[in-house]
Amino acid sequence: MVPAYVPNPVAALCGGGTPIDFHRNYTDGRRILGDGKTYRGLACGVLAGIAAGALQIWLSDTYGWIFLPQQTAASITILALGALLGDMAKSFIKRRLGKDRGQAWPIADQYDLVAGAFVLMLIFDPGWVFANITLPILIVILILTPLLHRAVNIIGYASGVKKEPW
Ligand code: CTP
Ligand code: MG
Repeated sequence: MVPAYVPNPVAALCGGGTPIDFHRNYTDGRRILGDGKTYRGLACGVLAGIAAGALQIWLSDTYGWIFLPQQTAASITILALGALLGDMAKSFIKRRLGKDRGQAWPIADQYDLVAGAFVLMLIFDPGWVFANITLPILIVILILTPLLHRAVNIIGYASGVKKEPW
């Protein structure tokens, strides 16, 4: 999951500039995605996730670290892109529910990246899911994700990178 965990904090660090929805509103008069989803954040985040995955591949090839999951160029790209597509899909639904940018939406804010990464993986590389995501691993992911999310966001808030500690 490393390539899926890296994009969000990196997007928060380097995001900004033109929003993906170009400031446009949806039919309900609210923003399509909002100012929290930008092209720069998306590009930096996905590239950083792929770089983290490439490091995993390099480590397992160089040192024979077979305990690492079997990552491929496709799997790391899908995990990184899926994480931020899930984040965007969440923001789209969040705006439709009338929640403003940055407002907390528990559960969705924490699991959007997992849902996005898994859905994209099931579409484009289902074999990877069945080979790597066993039930115990899924349980660890479901427990670890909100804890990591909370910890990283508190660090982001304390260091001034994020406006909210969630
Ligand atoms: N970010 C970005 N581009 C993205 C994703 C995130 O620029 N595709 C940056 C934005 O600066 C955003 C920050 O990362 O404010 C934190 O991301 P997130 O918490 O997902 O966004 P929110 O601002 O909380 O917006 P939303 O309510 O839509 O989730
Ligand atoms: Mg947020």
